[in-house]
Amino acid sequence: MGKVIAIANQKGGVGKTTTTVNVAACIAAMEHRVLLVDIDPQSNATSALGFEKDQPHVSTYDFLIGSSSADSAVRDTALSYLKLIPSDINLVGAEIELVEVDNRETRLREALSMVKNSFEYIFIDCPPSLGLLTVNALVAANTVLVPVQTEYFALEGLGQLLNTISMVKRSYNANLGLEGVLLTMFDSRLRLSNQVVDEVRRYFDERVFKTVIGRNVRLSEAQSFGKPIILYDAGSLGARHYMELAREFLERNKSRETSQKQDQTPKESARVNNRENTTA
Ligand SMILES: Nc1ncnc2c1ncn2[C@@H]1O[C@H](COP(=O)(O)OP(=O)(O)O)[C@@H](O)[C@H]1O
Ligand SMILES: [Mg+2]
Repeated sequence: MGKVIAIANQKGGVGKTTTTVNVAACIAAMEHRVLLVDIDPQSNATSALGFEKDQPHVSTYDFLIGSSSADSAVRDTALSYLKLIPSDINLVGAEIELVEVDNRETRLREALSMVKNSFEYIFIDCPPSLGLLTVNALVAANTVLVPVQTEYFALEGLGQLLNTISMVKRSYNANLGLEGVLLTMFDSRLRLSNQVVDEVRRYFDERVFKTVIGRNVRLSEAQSFGKPIILYDAGSLGARHYMELAREFLERNKSRETSQKQDQTPKESARVNNRENTTA
């Protein structure tokens, strides 16, 4: 069963989409089966993977509001291990339309349950709000990854996000966990950036990823060319940082991978166990 990770922060421009696209691409490049689900009406993740925003396709809108199934919306990307469920402009009205719909908070969870078995990791790129779309992502998720921009007032507004997470845990998804807080757009030349890093670490402690994403213009260029950074400029600082984050993420999820492998056929799990014995 795939693990679902919502990338959320109601502040815009903190690096949600950049992180979703690039961490998903880096993990896929390491041959893990990854699905990216774009639920932001702005469709930035969709276009960052080379899809035209205005092109008609089955999108997250169709199964949130309509009757399409999630599997009919899954698209191939330039990376064979990375698939996408695109967003489209119709999602702009979805927040209002959803109010009228049955099970409006759990639509995404139900839709994704169909495709969950085909992937190891499913990343959801959330819009910059705490409305029904983000709530759907939190209800569907196992964990939340919170990108925080290293700037003044970095922690401002996080209280609201944590409240929303608590509400979702109480009402719909008791096991929702925090995957981690990720510091983004770090500029080592600024003393302020270092102060923000210290402050966020003091507050969230070991829940902050060790990897800090530096400011790197190649990341925004890659987005405008419709490519993940590893396909646009693999040698860039941005590519190195997101590869490092992907490794840290996988390392943290290792125990889960081991238990998944033990769920596989007896022959295969015996092989895995043997390998573990020899390295132990
Ligand atoms: N590490 C980074 N270095 C430089 N620019 C970045 C970095 N991360 C994101 N950006 C740029 O900042 C803008 C906002 O990032 P984005 O990921 O779209 O944020 P969000 O999805 O939270 O609104 C985009 O133009 C993006 O290309
Ligand atoms: Mg975004």
